[in-house]
Amino acid sequence: MEKSRRTRRRVLQTIALVGTWGFLAWRFLVPVQESRKKLLLEVKKSDIPSGGALVYRQSRVAVIRRDEEIYALSLVCTHLGCTVNVTPNNLVCPCHGSVFDRNGAVLKGPSDRPLARLEVQEKGDSLMVLG
Ligand code: FES
Repeated sequence: MEKSRRTRRRVLQTIALVGTWGFLAWRFLVPVQESRKKLLLEVKKSDIPSGGALVYRQSRVAVIRRDEEIYALSLVCTHLGCTVNVTPNNLVCPCHGSVFDRNGAVLKGPSDRPLARLEVQEKGDSLMVLG
């Protein structure tokens, strides 16, 4: 009986030890993912008009080309979260009238923070917008 308890204890200790060392080895050897952001959309670079924007209302994202620069703005208003509209000159929130320029900077309140710039990664002739 005593020998059986000792054997069971030894088996449990071995399992705990192997589990602990296995977890530590996994944490040390497996690289941490660089980006845990979610893919919001994938856009062909050639589809973005020069000096214009592609607007994805469902994803609440605008992909904007200005000269050689391409960037993505979140269309979530920084006041209370309505979806802003993209006009030829700026971005306007229909809820309380905040106005943002095409870089996302606030031109008129009540919002006091710029629209968020989203991470864009190039993949061949496509752009991946992450958020
Ligand atoms: S939610 Fe956009 S101005 Fe209030």
